[in-house]
Amino acid sequence: MTTDPTTDAPGLSDLMIEALERLCIDFALAAGRLIRDDRPRSVGVAATKSTDTDVVTVMDQRSEELLHRLIRSARPDDGVLGEEGVDVVGSSGLTWIVDPIDGTVNYLYDIPAYAVSVAVVTGDARTDGAWRPVAGAVSDPSRRVVHHARRGGGAWSRPEPSDSTSHPADAPRRLTVSSQARLGRALLATGFGYDPEVRARQADVLRRVLPQVRDIRRIGSAALDLVRVAEGTVDAYAESGINAWDVAAGWLIVEEAGGVVVGVGSRPGKALTVAAGPALVEPMRALFLPTGQ
Ligand code: IPD
Repeated sequence: MTTDPTTDAPGLSDLMIEALERLCIDFALAAGRLIRDDRPRSVGVAATKSTDTDVVTVMDQRSEELLHRLIRSARPDDGVLGEEGVDVVGSSGLTWIVDPIDGTVNYLYDIPAYAVSVAVVTGDARTDGAWRPVAGAVSDPSRRVVHHARRGGGAWSRPEPSDSTSHPADAPRRLTVSSQARLGRALLATGFGYDPEVRARQADVLRRVLPQVRDIRRIGSAALDLVRVAEGTVDAYAESGINAWDVAAGWLIVEEAGGVVVGVGSRPGKALTVAAGPALVEPMRALFLPTGQ
């Protein structure tokens, strides 16, 4: 029997995956509370990354530190990879991929569309296309909701519990992607990178895409875009240049909600990520594929 290193992790029982999902929920909620409740009136821009628009806030770094601490204390043998630079290689075959604030620019401007994304993956988390999520959660602190999934367990949304010690057990809502099959009736979420040259190319793609779909939304958080696909409040999401921490949890949430997530090949990656219901995903991918592929 052949094994797939991106899906097979030694000793991963259903019970273990369920426990990992619970940790994802708890950690995403804890970091979500931190960034919402401790947000200073004027968020400090601690440094800039690739360009002036790619802001790294103090809260981004505090959130990643908290996530790292929680993960290391619960799962000391697992690897950890975070947007703000945490990069620990583990020995268990599992890696946590975290985005401490997805939607940083919204957060900076106090626009209530930012998230914390926490996922556990198998495979090589540092190589595009070589890993797969097994459990994940996206907390939406402004709406006080957490969205989550584990492989084979469905995709769910739950309200944030009123205090940090109780588990969000009440009123889960199962998520299902939309059944929209026609491009011309599809509401598409997308996003743009920070690099001006990448943005110019994305604008060219949009000139081709916009006349062919119902409309486009630029919400500003890839993790929340994917959750929206999962809950059917947009029909599809497509973006190029996206990183593992932006998609790791949302990818699984879309799949567990009955959707499909692909890239240029069968897995999402830096070159392209497309998420939609089964009937829409191929036409959507064809629209976004670089010409000639
Ligand atoms: C960004 C957001 C945005 C997407 C960008 C991402 P960040 O992540 O997800 O929606 O369009 O490509 O880089 O920087 O806010 O964590």
